[in-house]
Amino acid sequence: MRERLQHLIAERLTGYAEGLGIALPAEQLELSEPPDPAMGDFAMNLPMKLARVARRAPIAIAGEIADLLRDVDVFAKVEVAPPGYINLTLADYAVSGALQAIVADANLKLMKEGVPQTVVLDYSGVNIAKQMHVGHLRSTIIGDVIGRVLEARGERVIRQNHLGDWGLPIAMVLWKAGLVLRDIEARGDDPLQVLTVADLEQIYRDATAAVKVDPNASEEVHRILVELQSGDPRLLADWQTITRLSMQEVYRVYTDLGVQLTMEDERGESFYRDQLAGTVASLTACGALTESQGAMCVFLEQFKGKDGQPLPVIVQKSDGGYNYETFDLAAIRFRIEGLSADRVIYVTDARQALHFAQVFAVADLCGWTVRGSERVALEHVTFGSVLGEDGKPLKTRSGENVKLVDLLDEAVARAYAVVNEKNPDLPEDQKRAVARAVGIGAVKYSDLRQDRNNDYVFDWDRMLALVGNTAPYLQYAHARICSIFRKGGVEEDTITTAPEVSHPAERALALKLLAFAEVVEDVEAELRPHALCTYLYELATAFSSFYDQCPVLTAETEASKQARLALCRAAQRTLARGLDLLGIEAPREM
Ligand code: ARG
Repeated sequence: MRERLQHLIAERLTGYAEGLGIALPAEQLELSEPPDPAMGDFAMNLPMKLARVARRAPIAIAGEIADLLRDVDVFAKVEVAPPGYINLTLADYAVSGALQAIVADANLKLMKEGVPQTVVLDYSGVNIAKQMHVGHLRSTIIGDVIGRVLEARGERVIRQNHLGDWGLPIAMVLWKAGLVLRDIEARGDDPLQVLTVADLEQIYRDATAAVKVDPNASEEVHRILVELQSGDPRLLADWQTITRLSMQEVYRVYTDLGVQLTMEDERGESFYRDQLAGTVASLTACGALTESQGAMCVFLEQFKGKDGQPLPVIVQKSDGGYNYETFDLAAIRFRIEGLSADRVIYVTDARQALHFAQVFAVADLCGWTVRGSERVALEHVTFGSVLGEDGKPLKTRSGENVKLVDLLDEAVARAYAVVNEKNPDLPEDQKRAVARAVGIGAVKYSDLRQDRNNDYVFDWDRMLALVGNTAPYLQYAHARICSIFRKGGVEEDTITTAPEVSHPAERALALKLLAFAEVVEDVEAELRPHALCTYLYELATAFSSFYDQCPVLTAETEASKQARLALCRAAQRTLARGLDLLGIEAPREM
């Protein structure tokens, strides 16, 4: 809507602006919301901008522009506001018409025009033989939303789960796990049934402890690493078992979370093992490498340590081993050449900012990001930490990292109590389903609604509250609309009436609904899901004040009832679609 208006106004004013000697691109014509909705639907500061260039009084320019816009039909009111703003009020028919155009589209106009881009989306990136912790939660759910939003806009998304599955920690586990696995096999048991990731963590702890006190152990682990990397079949088979064992627990969490990652998206560090030597060779060929104390490094001018000395990007250690950086460099080449990425997005916490900045700079230096006349965009989407009530990174009472499964179980249990209290008559299995949707939704939403770079305090009571900017509040608003249809015996799919508006609360709701696609567009451009949360919260609030003021099923006339039902339907679809983009379920009854 906003965009269409911008074009319309720009067209109207081109001649006028030219008269002042100014070219007027539609993009420069910003329409904002006036501070008070009673002033109008949109505010425009263009007169102030033009006045500056033309060296004239803004109020005079505003008057002249207002005169030119007054006879455009879609505006019911065009008013000048000092010192040089113009407030615009749309005609009711224009609001209804625009909304009708949106609801007529199954996709609510989210799809963009033009050729889709191929976007490689790297998120979650869990580590094998280790529990997923709350830190991985953020990457997983923020990445998931980004994937859903890009797809809704029509992009081709290739998800990549860059597992930490190849390196020293794995060798440590393999060293001690061998005996355990042989034992299980001798008993005729399946390790995937009898071992857990918690067991693997214990094995890892035992191994680290042994290595600390015994130099031979350390040598042994290194030997195992070398043998694994050169393809020893026994070690590879055990590595495979450990990977599957870990991932089966991870998939349980993904399923709980409703996250779209599957086995096909797994492309861990191990995938690149045969491309590492080639990657180092390419770096040598482009002249980027320097040997420093036996290690192969790239020195980049722009990265200096605290002491002012250049910070090396080490791509091969003096013992011949490769680093986290090397895997990522190999992955960049694969993603651009092998997956034809136009854009690569990485979702990890802000502490990896230097890592990605360096790796991206090396890729640029060697020209890997240039394809034809285009430059492939490499973007790091960062986020802050989840804190406990004490303001320190979230830990359990005994001081361990909080496990994700436990956290989600608790969320569902707490939500069950809320549902049980609110709606005791709901059948038991429905109570459970709603509790899942609400509990998981609350955890995800309380994370997504924050500007992702902020740290936030994990607060059960706030996230499960039925009022305020929470998932349950939005889900509740959605369920309330469904209950209107239920009570009225209305088949919502059959609603085709135009959502006519006349009452201020109807207009306010309709105008909110008109902004949906713009908000999704912004989320895509900035990769910031919280803008969508803020929008959905405002939408739910606008619905609630509409519903308080405008009776639907008992509207005065049949025409008004139908028009209001159409508005309800538009609001319900938008809420459901918005929640779906956030990966949150919208139950029909709560
Ligand atoms: N496994 C890494 C970690 O847990 C995250 C991987 C992120 N992706 C990447 N391409 N480096 O920190």
